[in-house]
Amino acid sequence: MKPKDLMVQAEKARKASYSPYSKFAVGAALLTKSGRVVLGCNVENSSFGLACCAERTAIFKAVSEGDQEFVAIAVTAGKGHGAAPCGACRQVLHEFSPDMWVYFHDDDGGIVRKRVNALLSNGFRLHARGGKR
Ligand code: THU
Repeated sequence: MKPKDLMVQAEKARKASYSPYSKFAVGAALLTKSGRVVLGCNVENSSFGLACCAERTAIFKAVSEGDQEFVAIAVTAGKGHGAAPCGACRQVLHEFSPDMWVYFHDDDGGIVRKRVNALLSNGFRLHARGGKR
């Protein structure tokens, strides 16, 4: 699927955004290795710190439905609003598919294409320590 086509899906997902506090609506469309497109939007809360970004909504939906490998994600806050994924979302994407593509708008309405491991170098991985302290 072309970046532009996945971005159209992200724009659709954005319409469901619950963002009465920031008034910053974000949509994401996640392409799984199994060929599904899973949509996500940001979901805010009266307790501001509980907001969940569109990218994480999409990833958590997909994982809870059995998909753990991803090809690409498109993210948009609307054309003309550059919206690269936040650091927390980069780490969550990295957990599952460090080499997946991330598509997001630049400020001029163009689509930027980067791999997660380029957006987040040396992403954290938990290695078991064999019980030693
Ligand atoms: N937001 C996202 O959905 N994705 C990001 O990568 C950055 C920020 C949301 C969270 C919050 O609802 C609003 O944008 C303002 O920060």
